[in-house]
Amino acid sequence: MNIDILLGLQWGDEGKGKIVDALSPGYDIVARFQGGPNAGHSLEFNQVKHVLHLIPSGIFHPEKLNIIGNGVVIDPAVFKKEIEELGPPVNELTKRLVISTRANLILPTHRILDAAYECQKGMIKIGSTLKGIGPAYTDKTSRNGLRAGDIFRKDFRQLYDCHISRHLSILKNYELKYDLKEYEKGWFEGIEMLKNFRIVNTEYLVNELAVKGKKVLAEGAQGTMLDVDFGSYPFVTSSNTISAGACIGLGISPKMIGEIFGIFKAYCTRVGSGPFPTELNDETGTSLREIGHEFGATTGRPRRCGWLDLPALRYSIMINGITRLFMTKADVMSGFKTIKICTTYKVGGKECIELPFDNDSVIEPVYTELPGWKEDISGIREFDKLPESLKKFIAFIEKQTGVPITMVSVGADREETIFRN
Ligand code: GDP
Ligand code: IMO
Ligand code: MG
Repeated sequence: MNIDILLGLQWGDEGKGKIVDALSPGYDIVARFQGGPNAGHSLEFNQVKHVLHLIPSGIFHPEKLNIIGNGVVIDPAVFKKEIEELGPPVNELTKRLVISTRANLILPTHRILDAAYECQKGMIKIGSTLKGIGPAYTDKTSRNGLRAGDIFRKDFRQLYDCHISRHLSILKNYELKYDLKEYEKGWFEGIEMLKNFRIVNTEYLVNELAVKGKKVLAEGAQGTMLDVDFGSYPFVTSSNTISAGACIGLGISPKMIGEIFGIFKAYCTRVGSGPFPTELNDETGTSLREIGHEFGATTGRPRRCGWLDLPALRYSIMINGITRLFMTKADVMSGFKTIKICTTYKVGGKECIELPFDNDSVIEPVYTELPGWKEDISGIREFDKLPESLKKFIAFIEKQTGVPITMVSVGADREETIFRN
């Protein structure tokens, strides 16, 4: 059981990148298993902030192996840009990063189709990041995809042209202006960049290394509430963001999974459309956004903010089988006189234990109010030194969820992390 999973329990942006980076010294391999350039994972050290989209968050640890698994969808143009912006030279990064032959490619026309489908939706848009995620996964499941292993085929260009002409015939039905040539230029340069890296059957690699005793950390993207099956469909992403997705997206057995770490913010945020029962459209919501710098790491969009939602958190814990909880961004709420936590929902005046299937249900959150804390906690490194009211807030969540909170993050930097056994 050498494979642990870390994933988001809310609507994404819980701080996965920061925590994976902080945990990396304890692992040999960090592997992404789903999602693609829709993800924006930030991490900070030596006063520099990095944002990763496709590359796993263990990349800054030179001795660690990073894997982009078969469940990820790769846009070669984004990949090239990210590699060039990382810092270390390409010939150094090729030692640290391996890519699955089976990872599907996002084609230039997938991005255009994403925009076309979103435009067609009229008033109720998903709020997609428009990175081509939905169309790329659609082609994967309808068996029309191109995969990373295909780039070495002699007939790669013909295959590519075939897919593009299929997409262009769909796009004829939409009034959309686009410059395919411009997209293609960056895309083919990205293909050349990909060729520098080892593209192998990573399912063998992960299994071999795990059996030999190497420790693997599987890094989730997005969050459980954006899962294509269990999120608020259709306001979701197109992959399985939950723990089961790690088995499919890396080619590993559930028997190999050890810990499943669930990461959540001390409050909630969401980018894009869809239900958000505890959303605050008031000064408190604005304060959370401003103090917490709640703007998208991929699109720069302002994130919707609200109080912590325990019914949603309990649901995520159940679906994922969370063994430990990690809490981020409690420092953002320093100075709040009182803090609300939603403990249950009311729908039509009646208590509702389950998350409603129907997105149109009017959910009334039922809150418990706890005293806040005044202190700046960003300099604290020992759990016992945290303010009493924050410890009570933590104990309340543990009691309500039945899962221990064994890590508290008090700032964006890798050092601003408190571990607790
Ligand atoms: P991810 O997608 O889950 O990796 O999260 P993002 O990187 O999109 O968003 C999290 C944001 O919060 C980033 O700007 C992080 O640098 C920052 N962050 C992470 N943990 C903490 C924390 O404990 N406190 C504060 N203040 N910021 C944090
Ligand atoms: P990380 O990994 C937050 C949201 C989008 C949109 C919906 C569908 O950084 O936590 P898509 O581009 O997948 O078609 O968008 O999902 N979304 C995210 N929200 N964090 C993310 O990733 C997200 N990836 C997608 O805003 O509502
Ligand atoms: Mg993010």
